[in-house]
Amino acid sequence: EQTLRSLAARHGLYFGTAVDPAAYAADATYKTMVDTQFSTVTAENAMKWESLEPTRGTYNWGPADALIDNAVRNRQLVRGHVLVWHSQVPGWLSAGINDGSIDGPQLRALLKQHITAVVSHFKGRIWQWDVVNEAVSDPWETPSAIHLGGNAGSFKQKWADLLGPDYLAEAFRAARAADPKALLFYNDYNIEAFGDGGAGDKTQFVYDLVKRLRAGGVPIDGVGSQGHLATQYGNYDVFQVADALRRFTDLGLAVALTEVDARSLTQNAADPTLPVPGADVSARDQAAAYNYHVLLQACLMNRHCLSFTVWGFTDRYSWIPGWFKNPPEGLGCLWDASYNPKKSLRTVQGDL
Ligand code: XIL
Repeated sequence: EQTLRSLAARHGLYFGTAVDPAAYAADATYKTMVDTQFSTVTAENAMKWESLEPTRGTYNWGPADALIDNAVRNRQLVRGHVLVWHSQVPGWLSAGINDGSIDGPQLRALLKQHITAVVSHFKGRIWQWDVVNEAVSDPWETPSAIHLGGNAGSFKQKWADLLGPDYLAEAFRAARAADPKALLFYNDYNIEAFGDGGAGDKTQFVYDLVKRLRAGGVPIDGVGSQGHLATQYGNYDVFQVADALRRFTDLGLAVALTEVDARSLTQNAADPTLPVPGADVSARDQAAAYNYHVLLQACLMNRHCLSFTVWGFTDRYSWIPGWFKNPPEGLGCLWDASYNPKKSLRTVQGDL
């Protein structure tokens, strides 16, 4: 049976996964699959600020360096994730932001230092950098006005207020200066399609944002559409997603699907003893497979869609059950928790 990487290579597409170093070290099956199935890898957490600089001034490069060494050995390209993000920042930084001891100018200076340190350290070894991640609010938080930030009072909003609107341009410039050859991406979720009445507003906001950056000469090379889908809502069709990708690439930008998974409800939240609404196993698996199909086909229809990365490939280690607890969700990956192929995998293989 052919690997995902070899099937994708026929289209000039890189097929990737997020990698968890603990599973990679402990689970031989997981390691073999990372090494053989994929042509690009992303550190699921190891390159986030809290992982790299847990103590102020002391960088811990070990796990991220090891991940890159493995990638080089396996002839894989690396997506760098992530430089600027309000989430998973070190405790010393979030504490300073929350207690007011770190002000806006200081935060901007710290960010610039961080970007320069990290991009320089990995220089020449990163294909695409997620320079800024998830800077934009969600329509359900602020239905009338999508903006840079999040819910009123949230850390995401505090972060945006402190940084002001110009930090994105500064971040991209600092990244470019430190590694001129890396492709620099803006990355976000719920930007798969325009005009779906909800998340579409966010896509439009991100579109206007990257268009403005590009017009201002800011060194941005691409948009990453995360692709965290759920079978119980927000299902798109191929041409909606293809249209969104085309609108981004018409700006002269590359695109990538950066964190694809397709989760489902796993329990009836109202009464855990009842079946999940509308989800017998095969219907659920079909719906998840369809979501993979939509994102992959849309990517394949665009020659500037550089890579298709799944956010984990086995339900054994997926982030979904740990994150989406109310109501409980899971089962979003290509292989099940025992590494059996799912309908989603067969669909993806067939589409390639
Ligand atoms: C997730 C990881 O998968 C989890 O292990 C971690 O606890 C939280 O973050 N969007 C992103 C990713 O950009 O960095 C997130 O990764 C998933 C959502």
